[in-house]
Amino acid sequence: MARSKTSKAWLSEHVHDHYVHQAQKDGYRSRAAYKLLEINEKDKLIRPGTVLADLGSAPGSWSQVAAQIVGDKGKVFALDILPMDPLPGVDFIQGDFREQEVLDEFVRLLGGRALDLVISDMAPNISGMSAIDQARSFHLTELALEFARDHLKPGGHFLVKVFQGSEFQDYLKAMRELFVEVVSRKPKASRDRSNEIYLLGKSRR
Ligand SMILES: C[S@@+](CC[C@H](N)C(=O)[O-])C[C@H]1O[C@@H](n2cnc3c(N)ncnc32)[C@H](O)[C@@H]1O
Repeated sequence: MARSKTSKAWLSEHVHDHYVHQAQKDGYRSRAAYKLLEINEKDKLIRPGTVLADLGSAPGSWSQVAAQIVGDKGKVFALDILPMDPLPGVDFIQGDFREQEVLDEFVRLLGGRALDLVISDMAPNISGMSAIDQARSFHLTELALEFARDHLKPGGHFLVKVFQGSEFQDYLKAMRELFVEVVSRKPKASRDRSNEIYLLGKSRR
């Protein structure tokens, strides 16, 4: 069957993408690894001993990066609606973060531990209808912020992928209420044409 123009363009971009090749070489499950590595290089969010939650973790490259850095004294708790192959040092549950039952199960997994860091790369399946996609995406970022509010230690950090849209300013305001400082990051591995941006809340009040 003939491929559509957009899927051809995507395939061609993917095949020629430097980060895709690099991820294959370095053994990461996706090119997204380099976004977290670049942000972490600058902001030193993940350190040996860090206990963190990775929301929207599949296929698992952020969890790979995190588990390698936190080592034996740290811990990575990961969640995704899709399955994820096991990784050493990572406790994973599969489920929809929007469902209370899934959230409860994830909280049980934390075993009462407050977190040093929450990272969320969650993004909904794109329907192609931008208003719907934007609303779904903001719902996930709001839930991630709520989770950070409930489970981060004072002084903990929160990294979240957001798509710039009409709710962006309100979201930024809510983050500023919870964190001492909020900065934005657009790592090189984030494609220019994507309107995704990462917000980093530093030091939970
Ligand atoms: C960009 S990918 C994450 C890539 C990941 N950071 C990595 O490095 O491998 C976004 C993920 O968000 C997940 N996601 C979307 N909606 C979700 C939901 N409602 N609950 C849990 N995960 C969700 C998707 O299944 C997808 O795996």
